[in-house]
Formats: sequence, C-alpha cells, structure tokens
Amino acid sequence: MNDFIMINEKRPTMENGYHNGVSKNGHSNGSLKVDKVNGANGNGAIEIERPIPVVNARPIVAVKEQRAQLRGVGVVGLGYWGPNWVRNLHQCQAARRIVACDLDQKRRSHVSQLYSDLETTSRFEDLLNDDDVEGIVVATPVGTHYGMAKRALEAGKSVLVEKTLATSTEEANDLVKTAREKKLVLMVGHTFEYSAPVLKMHDIISSGELGDVFYISSVRANLGLFQRDVNVTWDLATHDILTLRFERNIIAFIHVSWLDPDKIRRTTVVGSRKMLVYDDTAPQEKIRIYDKGVTAQKYYDTFGEFQFSYRYGDIQIPRIEEKEPLFSECEQFVNCMKNGETPNTDGVNGARVVNVLEAANYSLRRGGLMVPLGAALR
Ligand SMILES: NC(=O)c1ccc[n+]([C@@H]2O[C@H](COP(=O)([O-])OP(=O)(O)OC[C@H]3O[C@@H](n4cnc5c(N)ncnc54)[C@H](O)[C@@H]3O)[C@@H](O)[C@H]2O)c1
Repeated sequence: MNDFIMINEKRPTMENGYHNGVSKNGHSNGSLKVDKVNGANGNGAIEIERPIPVVNARPIVAVKEQRAQLRGVGVVGLGYWGPNWVRNLHQCQAARRIVACDLDQKRRSHVSQLYSDLETTSRFEDLLNDDDVEGIVVATPVGTHYGMAKRALEAGKSVLVEKTLATSTEEANDLVKTAREKKLVLMVGHTFEYSAPVLKMHDIISSGELGDVFYISSVRANLGLFQRDVNVTWDLATHDILTLRFERNIIAFIHVSWLDPDKIRRTTVVGSRKMLVYDDTAPQEKIRIYDKGVTAQKYYDTFGEFQFSYRYGDIQIPRIEEKEPLFSECEQFVNCMKNGETPNTDGVNGARVVNVLEAANYSLRRGGLMVPLGAALR
C-alpha cells in the first residue's frame, strides 16, 4: 500500500495578518498566562496553580498537574509563525524557562507582552550559550535554517527546524549526521504530519477503502507574500511532498502558487473503488469520500446505456477529532528530548522532502526534465 500524507497552509492572505496565537492588534487567541509558579521540586517538576487567560484567549480549564519539564527551551524567529511555537510551548508546559529571540525589537516586545515570564533576546548566541536551554525551535526564513540548526547542534542543543529543513540535500544530510554524532534530537516542523484530517486520510488510504490509488493531485494556492530567499516550492510544496512515499507507480501532481486570487488547499485522491477529497479550508467536514466511479461497459448501443456506465454513489463525511497539530508536535519534541526517542518527522524525513524539492527545482531550470531522486542535485 502506498504510504502518503500531505497538506497544509502557509500564511493567510496579507489582509489577515498574524493569526493563530498572535494577531496584529496584539491580542492572543490561545495563550496561557501563569501567575504563580511554585518552584521546581527535586525532579524538576513545576506546579502550575492558576492559569490566567489573556485577552481573547480561549477559556482554559485550570490545571494542576505535575509534569517533568525541560530546564529551558529557545525559539528563534518571532515573525508570523514563531509566536505559535511560543504559545504551544507555554501551553504544554514544556520548560521552566522559554527564551525567545528575534532581531526585530518590535516582534520581541509584541510577544513578550503576551507572556509575563517570557525572556527575550536579539542575539542567537544567547540561546547557544545558555546552559539551561536544552532545545531550540528555529522559526526563521528557510535560507537561514541550515546555519542556525548547525550552530545549535554544535552547541549541544536539540533542534526543531521549521519546514523546510534546508535548501539542499547536502546541507540536510549534514544536519542529520551532526545530530547523530552529538546524540541530539533533530526534528522538522512538518506540521501536517500531526494534523488530524491528514492522519485520517492516511488511515482511509491504508485501509484499502479507496482501492488501488491511481493518482493524487493537490492544489495549494493563495495570494501570499513573496519570499526573497526561496521560491514557492520551498515554501508551500513541502507540505504536500512530506509524506509521499510510493512503492508503486502512482502519479502525484502538486500545484503551488503565491499568486492566486483564491485560497485553495485541496487534495484529491483517486482510487479504483472510491475517491477522496480533502479541503483544508473547509471549516468542517474537511474530508469527503465519494463512491463515484466508472464501470467499464465494453459495448453499448444507445447513449442512455453509455450514461449508465458512470456510478454515482453516496458521499461519506468521516468524523474527525481536531487537535492543534502544533501542540502534538510540541509534545513530541519535548518527549523525544527527554526520552531520547526519534520523532516521526526527524531529520531523515526532512532531508527526503528537501531531496524532492531539489529535484523539482533542478527539473524546473531544465524545462521539466525527468529527474531521479536520491542524489544531491545542484
Ligand atoms: N509549519 C507550518 O505550517 C509553517 C507555517 C508558516 C511558516 N512556517 C515556517 O516558519 C519559518 C518562519 O516563517 P515566517 O512566515 O514566520 O517568517 P517571518 O519572515 O514572518 O518571520 C521570521 C522572523 O525571523 C527573524 N529572524 C531572521 N533572522 C534572524 C536571526 N538571525 N536571528 C533572530 N531572528 C531572526 C525575523 O526578524 C522575523 O521576525 C519558515 O521556515 C516557514 O517555512 C511553517
């Protein structure tokens, strides 16, 4: 059976601005403020006594639980996406100290307004030199990932690098090697591998309900900000490629664009029995399974009989229990650091995606040439 996953979105349209945690008006939609923290006990646990929802925060049930925490965790990059990491690290009580870094003073002060206990710095070196900081989340532009992750690993920190891991297979492999040598966790922020609809889609395909998968097509388009350091494939196609693993010849089309009037995140999986459509922009009922198909009728004498060869069956909408993917990702990063486990989206997984992107870009520069995967292509 093919093993495949995919999907997500990058940023909302420019008018939407920041979302999911930090909005442009400075409000948070899901933060947790802790007004009283009883100091660490012998095994490093902390007792959180009273969470105070900040302005516009989702109501959070007061928790009183003991959980082993990291001493400290760093986040570098507080632009559009990094604040979501700060929020989730807070919410999953990942560490006793969270240190956030950005060159931009406005972003630092904006995020520190939301969390009274957040420490901030403009210098990445401060994270590297801080003995408490056991792991660092790199949420800076893609072109900076390799350099920052490499320095962090060399400083003895585990690293979660946001997608895309690096801009070449060579760099990605070097990060994998460095993490192995240092016995540190290298995880990649392939958020959609933690998303409930994508996991559901994976289960449906694996169960054989769709029959043999003939092809997959995916559209990820919106009016987005152009990035200076990478083209749209390195930004958006990562989500679609990240779990495409084909054992047989299956065709996958991925269409990505930063220049489209509509925001579209749609994946279609066509199987021999049924078809599945996953629309990530749908507020509910993101997955639909169509019992549609064509029953091959070798001969027909009338146009009516020809029509009958098409089968229009029921449409099923599976129930999906949503959980913020970044929260699961955050928990996994922390657990892997604590228990020395390998994350689902480890460096090897990240390097595989980089390899596909590299091949796609190589092909793009050569007018659509077929490019084999595996080798580093420059
Ligand atoms: N997993 C997802 O679904 C998802 C979604 C959006 C973005 N991302 C990823 O998150 C990363 C950041 O994207 P973004 O849209 O937030 O970018 P952004 O440009 O909005 O923010 C990047 C921030 O990094 C800071 N920065 C850059 N260099 C720095 C340095 N040397 N030291 C400290 N700070 C530095 C910038 O000042 C800026 O605030 C990218 O890798 C992107 O691919 C992932």
